[in-house]
Amino acid sequence: MNKPKGFTYQKTNDIYMAHYKDGKWEDGVLQKDDHISISVMAPALHYGQQCFEGMKAYRRSDGKIQLFRIKDNATRFQESARRLVMPPVSIETFEHAVIETVKANSDFVPDNGTGATLYIRPLMIGVGENLGLRPAKEFLFMVITSPVGAYFEGGIKPVDLVVSEYDRAAPHGTGDIKVGGNYAASLYPQVLAKQQGYADCLFLDPKTHTKIEEVGAANFFGITKENVYITPKSPSILNSITNRSIRWLAEHKLGLKVVEGDVYIDQLDNLVEAGACGTAALITPVGSITHYGIKHVFPYNKEMGPISKQLYDLLSRIQFGEIEDPNHWVTVLD
Ligand SMILES: Cc1ncc(COP(=O)(O)O)c(C=O)c1O
Repeated sequence: MNKPKGFTYQKTNDIYMAHYKDGKWEDGVLQKDDHISISVMAPALHYGQQCFEGMKAYRRSDGKIQLFRIKDNATRFQESARRLVMPPVSIETFEHAVIETVKANSDFVPDNGTGATLYIRPLMIGVGENLGLRPAKEFLFMVITSPVGAYFEGGIKPVDLVVSEYDRAAPHGTGDIKVGGNYAASLYPQVLAKQQGYADCLFLDPKTHTKIEEVGAANFFGITKENVYITPKSPSILNSITNRSIRWLAEHKLGLKVVEGDVYIDQLDNLVEAGACGTAALITPVGSITHYGIKHVFPYNKEMGPISKQLYDLLSRIQFGEIEDPNHWVTVLD
């Protein structure tokens, strides 16, 4: 298939659909229609009772398709569902649904060598009718796919970020799980950032506004002058599976010290390289961060820094099946 442009939705053959009713999940089916009919009073629409995941299917050079760390997405999907009082689907059901959906849409997995992938969006929503604020009794679990290219326009060229004065999540809120409310809160700051010519905004910790948290849809990391891989640790950021993988590669393949800790916004001079990482963003280098009108430019602002590049190569080569998977991260489909 042709190389998809950017991160936009393109309908594929089938979506997976399962219904939770009368206290149990019914067997899911594949369906062609990517529209659903639900009550206007569905709690997902009014109270944001929903959660989702983001993952990708990769085309290997031998033509086979593989998935990356599917169990970790399944586990996080369960954590998100529980926090929003939704019935988690089992790891096996999640894996089955994702694999069947990818197989049904295998024609849409872009060719190896294009860097493009099939994005996979598992989604759970609370349906039925509730006027008052209480959890739904019925739910839909879906898996939707779309071929995608790069998340940030310009591919892996360094991007400019601006610090947001808004928070995406509260200190003891839902920032650590993948639910729509976090993203709704991040839309306005993101639009403002784009209007000002930035690729995206960067959120600070909601309690003190002194430490970097993350980008709207990616974690943040830096490489210090001492070659330490540092990434924020906070209860209000998403526990990124990409970041977890990069931390492992940084430590075990590049021999770097890895620190999960505080990255103060007024101490950016310590960082030689900076990046955003996530399933969609992969590793996107950050060239500058603007805070209160002052632009901090990182030494690697025209091209990806050498350590970020090594991490990018290692991760993407594992994801596309070019080098051996060191940790059983990969599932190759038959
Ligand atoms: C807010 C946020 N942070 C981080 C990430 C990266 O997480 P992962 O690497 O699991 O995709 C995402 C991914 O979509 C995200 O939405």
